[in-house]
Amino acid sequence: MRFLLTGGAGYIGSHTCVSLLDAGHEVVVLDNFVNSCPEAIARVEKIAGKSITLYEGDCCDAAFVSSVFDKEHIDGVVHFAGLKAVGESVRIPLNYYQNNLGATMTLCRVMAEHHVKRIVFSSSATVYGDSKEVPFNESLPMGECTNPYGWTKWMSERIMRDIAFADPEWTVVLLRYFNPVGAHESGLIGEDPSGIPNNLMPFICQTAAGVRDKLSIFGNDYPTPDGTCVRDYIHVMDLADGHVKALEYAMDHQGTEIFNLGTGEGYSVYQMVAAFERANHLTLPHVDAPRRPGDIAVSYADPAKAKAVLHWQAKRTLDDMCRDAWNWQSRNPHGYRQA
Ligand code: WQD
Repeated sequence: MRFLLTGGAGYIGSHTCVSLLDAGHEVVVLDNFVNSCPEAIARVEKIAGKSITLYEGDCCDAAFVSSVFDKEHIDGVVHFAGLKAVGESVRIPLNYYQNNLGATMTLCRVMAEHHVKRIVFSSSATVYGDSKEVPFNESLPMGECTNPYGWTKWMSERIMRDIAFADPEWTVVLLRYFNPVGAHESGLIGEDPSGIPNNLMPFICQTAAGVRDKLSIFGNDYPTPDGTCVRDYIHVMDLADGHVKALEYAMDHQGTEIFNLGTGEGYSVYQMVAAFERANHLTLPHVDAPRRPGDIAVSYADPAKAKAVLHWQAKRTLDDMCRDAWNWQSRNPHGYRQA
């Protein structure tokens, strides 16, 4: 099969390219490189020993997206493209709504015009909001998001569900990611945040590398066993494999399906720091700091549906996540920019 990946040069997109190529599929990537590098695609090709067809352009540009569908035979699409910095989305919400919702709507319209009606969407556990019921199960009602980034995922899900409801030829698979971390085991591709990282694992890695002085642990007074927030960290290669299963599922099903992609295990921030130190035999300078606005105490997946329906389950351990994240960081202290 031949799949189009919007935002395919980004963190999750690039790892998904590897899994799709390894599974024998062909990959076309559309990316505007606003938060990613062409070098990531070159490295994916090196890992997989296969080539990727790459188009540089914006997913909100209907003429451009349409020209890609005119040129390429596409069996299905994974839609990753979008802005993803939570804090930035609070400061410039209109950019997030315009870009992320514009991209979703433009892409779906162009797809329908080209009779390609199978899409897998990169959604987030953030759409559950601050649910009191854990683990999060796909049948829970969607919650209140705490930032515009989260709402764009929430609204994109809504838009795609409505499209599939109106036209039964559509297949929409909504993948709700928990906390993706780690990197391909080669250390050639990984997460390359621009500026100061918002997310825990890249901040840990940059602290271990000496780029940051110390890690601030945001809040130690949450109602959790050790007072720090609990999250479901999932190895990005497990997540990537989940996309292969989701696409293959989309090829012979119709309608909308939602799947959590998580391990089902929750770890606290203190546990993550300890795991990283243990896996990599180093000491991580850290201090306790005030809570970060918008954080919820506990989030972890009920991954049973993905296991039953997609025959997918996370295989890699917390040690693998910590080791592979550090392998990428230590080999690429400045991300792709040094290449
Ligand atoms: C995890 C835990 C922090 C940094 C976010 C988005 C979500 C998704 C993934 C992204 C929390 C703590 C963090 C630090 C810390 N989308 N922390 N010190 O908030 O669960 O999810 O990223 O594209 O939509 O909301 O992940 O990695 O930011 O934080 O103590 O320097 O680590 O408070 O408890 P989060 P995270």
